[in-house]
Amino acid sequence: MEERKLKQLLSEMSLREKIGQMIQLTGIYFDEDAVLTGAVGEGQPPQWVIRYAGSVLGMIGAEKLRAIQKKYMKEHPHHIPLLFMADVIHGCRTIAPIPLGQACSFHPELVEKMAGHAAAESAAEGIKATFSPMMDVSRDPRWGRIMESFGEDPFLSGVMGTVMLRGYQKGNGNGQKGSREIPESGIAGCLKHFAGYGAVNAGREYNDVEISQRTFREQYLKPFRMAMHADPAMVMTAFNAVDRRPVSGNKELLEDILRKEMGFRGTVISDWGSVGQLEEQNVVSGQAEAADAAVHAGVDIDMMSPAYMFHLEELVEEGHVPVSLIDRSAWNVLVMKNRLGLFEDPFAGMEGEEQLSAEAKKIALALACESSVLLKNADLLPLKPEQKVFWAGPYVESTELLSRWAIFGRHDDVETISEVLRDRKLPVRFVPGCEILTEEERRLWQADNCRIQGEEEQNKEMSGSCGDQYADLEEIGPEDTVVLVLGEHEAQSGEAASRAFLDLPEGQQKFFDAVAERTSHIVAVIMSGRPLDIRKIAEKSQAVLLAWRPGTMGAEAVVRLVYGEETPSGKLSVSIPWGVGQVPVSYWDVKTGHRMTETNPENRFTSRYMDIPNEPLYPFGFGLSYTGFTITPPVLEKQEREDKIGILCKVKNVGEVPGAEVVQCYVETLCAPVVRPAKELIRFRKVFLQPGEEQKVKFTIDRKELAFYGADMELIDGGIPLRITVGNSSRAEAGDVSLQLDRRS
Ligand code: GLC
Repeated sequence: MEERKLKQLLSEMSLREKIGQMIQLTGIYFDEDAVLTGAVGEGQPPQWVIRYAGSVLGMIGAEKLRAIQKKYMKEHPHHIPLLFMADVIHGCRTIAPIPLGQACSFHPELVEKMAGHAAAESAAEGIKATFSPMMDVSRDPRWGRIMESFGEDPFLSGVMGTVMLRGYQKGNGNGQKGSREIPESGIAGCLKHFAGYGAVNAGREYNDVEISQRTFREQYLKPFRMAMHADPAMVMTAFNAVDRRPVSGNKELLEDILRKEMGFRGTVISDWGSVGQLEEQNVVSGQAEAADAAVHAGVDIDMMSPAYMFHLEELVEEGHVPVSLIDRSAWNVLVMKNRLGLFEDPFAGMEGEEQLSAEAKKIALALACESSVLLKNADLLPLKPEQKVFWAGPYVESTELLSRWAIFGRHDDVETISEVLRDRKLPVRFVPGCEILTEEERRLWQADNCRIQGEEEQNKEMSGSCGDQYADLEEIGPEDTVVLVLGEHEAQSGEAASRAFLDLPEGQQKFFDAVAERTSHIVAVIMSGRPLDIRKIAEKSQAVLLAWRPGTMGAEAVVRLVYGEETPSGKLSVSIPWGVGQVPVSYWDVKTGHRMTETNPENRFTSRYMDIPNEPLYPFGFGLSYTGFTITPPVLEKQEREDKIGILCKVKNVGEVPGAEVVQCYVETLCAPVVRPAKELIRFRKVFLQPGEEQKVKFTIDRKELAFYGADMELIDGGIPLRITVGNSSRAEAGDVSLQLDRRS
């Protein structure tokens, strides 16, 4: 619709119609099968709110949503289409690896393609907006939502979030007819949670956040700033406060920083109930005041809190809230619907897309392979197909390779590892050994209602379903090889899943120890939504492959990697701690005094633990391959434009099999008026090489990207000695170059 007509529509709308656009309801008021992703209060929304609410979340199903849309538009005074939103976090029906795993692929193009398929599958079933990508920098694995993040690095999070957003809003190109800004197979994306949620104190869910303004701006806002280039349709406010001021009532954050400084032009939506929670955070005295604070701060849509639905109309009528603020927010929502082309076709994208298409599954498989990280390999992997192998552990027969945020995924669509192995007719025997969780752990983690969309079917029966292929532990001899597939349950990560310890489930630890008693030839395959404390597992295993929560194609990916049909190429998007006492730990921890160095390891008066190392078990950016690579030291390359820095190096596959290396480029400020991170990732490139093949890698860095905040929060963009390194992890340096940019500001 032309802007002129859209403005005309806004001018004709009643106050209730405009306020309706600012309210998002859960789908249960329209359909009892809707997915609940938050708590619902006692109060039923006023009837006019159900009639005029501009968007709904948590519903799926083309026929159902088509019928609801038709009825809703018919009864709406101006027939404005309803916008169906949902949490499509890592796939809709074809489930990809969790975002924490996708980031380990260091393969932006693949992540973008996968998001395009997720968008097309969503649109085909009526969903036209997702609450994804999550941009929260996360360094604390005690926080369950680290699984939804792209890990600890601001730059990697920014790159991955940008391409995932672009994928959502571009779709996969199928069914394209009109020339709408977000095409039929595309959906509106939403950067969340703005901002700082990944830094909750002590990794405890919904806890306060204590970050300096400098760290907030340089690390936690960076991914959001980077993703603005992809023109996000929405930004979601975080539950937390920043510097003691809750985001959903924080005008400085939402207006001055997000809109004016970052140039965001879309719709701000609150997180579930976070407007109403201003009262719990004691910054307002009631829901009317919460509504007043949020609408003045710039929250355009109140998701599922009582504030807007019960109080906004009265606040306007009593003159506390100017109509201009209502017009501004209603306008932002109408523009978003217009970008989606809903006024021309409220059912855009609902034809034609095949769910779980061969193409979508192919991309999901590639991503599951490239998201897995080979952490250890004492020449045990890859296994030979003719090798007699025991596949053991509760995940061998499990379809629970998805996650709590795969709310529309179906375990029935997931092959088990044992099914994949049987199809290959390999000489394998299965030793399930134990359940994923003990009964007590199942109760603690509410594992039986783990699927947010009430999924009745239980995990396939583990034992007896394949007759003679089952073995007992006693059959495992000292020379036998065992692939042990272990890990957290789906319910143990995601929202409201913080943990104080990072251990494997109890029964699995015992089973692992029992197997380790019998043989040392163990391949440990770990399924988890977060870094776990795997130190003892790694000590007793000859190989460790971290598969995260690999999604619909996870079993195929694990088998291909273990037998060398694919070469592992994943690199850690988050440090694996030595133990839980070490968290939060990240490669970009700032420099301290009393620095521990190789020369003074015994000196106790250094910044260190006396009982464990400072370094994580496996660092950010680390991952092994079945082949080997060399990277030449970086050299500076003269640039035509003086505001660009060129870094050149070469990478070569010096092994026997094809593989991919991720060349990482880090910058370190050698001396500055403020203490700075040890180093910061500034570029990376994944290079696929045949044996013996060599390729040049050139990074072009804009000097603005190296700026940081000085003592008075002024931007320092030069005059500082810098050291730039390249390598294949945050700990490995293939050399460095030093440079100093002239100071501009
Ligand atoms: C949840 C989450 C948010 C999600 C929203 C809608 O509470 O915090 O990430 O998108 O509510 O389900």
